[in-house]
Amino acid sequence: MRLWSLFLLPLLCLPARVRSEDYADATVIVRGSETIASTSDEFVCATIDWWPPEKCNYDQCPWERASVLNLDLTNPLLAKAIQAFSPLRIRVGGSLQDQVLYGTPNLGLPCDPFTKVSSGLFGFSQGCITLERWDDINDMFLKTGAVVTFGLNALRGRQQTRKGVWGGPWNSSNAREFIEYTVLKNYPIDSWEFGNELSGSGVGASVSAEQYGKDLVELQTIISELYGDSNKPLVVAPGGFYDQKWFAQLLDVSGPNVLNAMTHHIYNLGAGNDPQVPNRILNPQYLSRTSDTFRSLQLTIQRHGPWSAPWVGESGGAYNSGSRLVSNTFLNSFWYLDQLGQSAKYDTKVYCRQTLIGGNYGLLDTETFVPNPDYYSSWGQEFFL
Ligand SMILES: *[C@@H]1O[C@H](CO)[C@@H](O)[C@H](O)[C@H]1NC(C)=O
Repeated sequence: MRLWSLFLLPLLCLPARVRSEDYADATVIVRGSETIASTSDEFVCATIDWWPPEKCNYDQCPWERASVLNLDLTNPLLAKAIQAFSPLRIRVGGSLQDQVLYGTPNLGLPCDPFTKVSSGLFGFSQGCITLERWDDINDMFLKTGAVVTFGLNALRGRQQTRKGVWGGPWNSSNAREFIEYTVLKNYPIDSWEFGNELSGSGVGASVSAEQYGKDLVELQTIISELYGDSNKPLVVAPGGFYDQKWFAQLLDVSGPNVLNAMTHHIYNLGAGNDPQVPNRILNPQYLSRTSDTFRSLQLTIQRHGPWSAPWVGESGGAYNSGSRLVSNTFLNSFWYLDQLGQSAKYDTKVYCRQTLIGGNYGLLDTETFVPNPDYYSSWGQEFFL
């Protein structure tokens, strides 16, 4: 349990009374006698995504070799950056997650990477991770002490019923074999996440909360069978944008103790090429609008599923791969530190920053693996107390 938010928050709240273009003397009084919320030991989290080098936005292709499938796992700067946190939570996931196949012996298909397909979801085909690659990734996670949240494909077996809407039950067989292999190899997965941005009206695709809740029960059953009831990983979901009705229904349908954490995504700064992104980062009133989401999620969980914890599963500021020359600079820390503070105030236990590496918002530079200012901002909060 960390109590840093109690002390950091008043500092972060200060600019609310000072226009960013003015200077003012201010006195900060910290009332340290009361705990308003607590975070988990792995509050700071960063993501590794699936985007291949061919992923482009606005004529830029900022992913290069930052995908789960092609990241240079032997780079010493990568290992040091993760180790420095002791531990850093890493969430593996992203848009293509629901098109990932796992190269288990019974897959029945060749285990090929993603290719560009204009008719595919997000412009790509299905892509497969080999068990050899999964071994290498886990070697790196073990060496660096990362605490791992892995996002599973939650569209497998479903059919598109109308534009953007997918129906039918989840086919768990490939995921089950993948988890089975992971258990056999003793790879310490902290949490299995189910799906990416399929909640509410979805981003590329959506699934009803009713069906999703049933599938979560199945995932929890699989986890309990494969791990036994003690020391089993957490089940977290839906890894999507907050929608009060959908999130409440997911908790109602899945029922007590199935969903251990509710993950939601935040991209509150607009599109990566929006020229207003820097102004929004420096506008405290604008930044504070996300507190409505944090507050509402906290209430939804209290009312419909107090066994579940609120997590931010992915948050990158500007969407569409971040904002070039903004999301990786000092300026961006005004957004990032404010988010860490705001979310902690509403009892968020984990906050996953998009990305550890890749896109325009990587904590590490995609080419050089050199840490950016936000890396040090997040690292600094580890040692605040
Ligand atoms: C699930 O998918 C596997 C192939 O991965 C297939 O053999 C099996 O029949 C499917 N199960 C259902 C219930 O459709």
